[in-house]
Amino acid sequence: MTTATANKSVLAIDGGPKAFTTKQGHSQNKIGVEELFAIAERFGVKPDAMQRLRSALTDKDLQGEGPTLAKYASTFPQPSSGSRFEAAARELFGSPYALGVSSGTGALHAAMVAVGAGPGKEVILPALGFMATAAAAALSGATPVFCDVDESLQLDPKKLESCITAQTVAVAPTHHWGNVADMDPIMRIARKHKIKVIEDCAQSPGAKYKGRCVGTIGDVGCFSISAYKIIGGGEGGMVLARDERLFDRINQLVECGGLWRKDRFAPERYEGELFVGTNYRLSELESAVNVVQLGKLTGIVQRTHDAYQRVLRQLTPVQEIHPQTINDRDGAVGYQLRFFPESHELRKKLLPAFQAEGVPCGSRGPTNGPDWHLCSQMFPLQRSLKAHSRADQCPVAEDLYHREIAIYVDQWWTEADCDAVANGVNKVLAAFCTASPNAKKWW
Ligand SMILES: Cc1ncc(COP(=O)(O)O)c(C=O)c1O
Repeated sequence: MTTATANKSVLAIDGGPKAFTTKQGHSQNKIGVEELFAIAERFGVKPDAMQRLRSALTDKDLQGEGPTLAKYASTFPQPSSGSRFEAAARELFGSPYALGVSSGTGALHAAMVAVGAGPGKEVILPALGFMATAAAAALSGATPVFCDVDESLQLDPKKLESCITAQTVAVAPTHHWGNVADMDPIMRIARKHKIKVIEDCAQSPGAKYKGRCVGTIGDVGCFSISAYKIIGGGEGGMVLARDERLFDRINQLVECGGLWRKDRFAPERYEGELFVGTNYRLSELESAVNVVQLGKLTGIVQRTHDAYQRVLRQLTPVQEIHPQTINDRDGAVGYQLRFFPESHELRKKLLPAFQAEGVPCGSRGPTNGPDWHLCSQMFPLQRSLKAHSRADQCPVAEDLYHREIAIYVDQWWTEADCDAVANGVNKVLAAFCTASPNAKKWW
């Protein structure tokens, strides 16, 4: 055996030559220019602009796999989009803790588990809302219990106490369709019975109750930031919390990889910190979009509120119509203006007449098929309900949901647009109803 051959076989650990020194292969970013173009194509960027973009970007070797779109192991040189989004949310809403998550449903599931919902426990929800809130309670193993609504279409605080049992751990009011639940009595009753309050703000981000942003009044605030909501371009959600321990538990459910902990794999630091969670992490791509979307929220809310208020203030009070009760006039976003004609006959006359005037509006009516906003029609949930869940015993929700008409207010309406819509509504009201100073006021 020659010395050279002998040396080659000496283990590197014993002073021999290394077997694999420098990589010959040329690395490329896992996510790079081509993915950027895929996004640009999705948004219809014109070919000449694509060409200019392409020539402005170089495809150089950035070593290893480069940055990714995951919060898990982001190697972006700048702070992650996720942390920028959360910092922006803390500032905008005035909340000590904020976490971006992959959906509103994930946010609610995390909140439910964090406050102790689980098998043998109960969570109270409004009879009108979206099924995701009750589904999140059921996912935790708890029983959803529905509480009827009042003319605000929000949870009726007068009926809340009778829904509370020894098993109740939380009440989860939904701030419905751009308006707010009556939080003062809800908080008072919840504190009296030592149950937690989870606000579902998916439909009303930016709304305020007595000057405070929804999501910061209860113990936890849950938001959806999906393309179908006031802000959001894809799928996403957010949780706000006021208490560090509660926020730890939210993180644990959302992030069972333990990345949220400084000492990731360490044993439990206090009782209740660790339990089996899942993965509701928000992707870096969604976070990047949501940082920008969050910055638009105040403007969207202001424009919508101004249009809503301008229309409402002009409407004539009539005997045959009850406008929706608004729990906070200044805090409502107001993208839907709802009211209840006294009968289905009247509703059926008004709707086509409004539509003929060009007023954008709609109404479910009793014959339009089921819908998962009304508790008695949330079919996937039925097996999770118990005798006292009251899904079929919320007569106010049943009645109002089917009788209401909603006018869809547009943030981009000019003053002239608002005046034209108000004029159209008044024209129809004058033809079918009786004006009366004693009727319930619109504003
Ligand atoms: C009141 C309410 N809560 C929760 C959700 C669920 O949000 P996501 O679709 O982001 O899971 C929605 C979505 O429609 C909603 O309207």
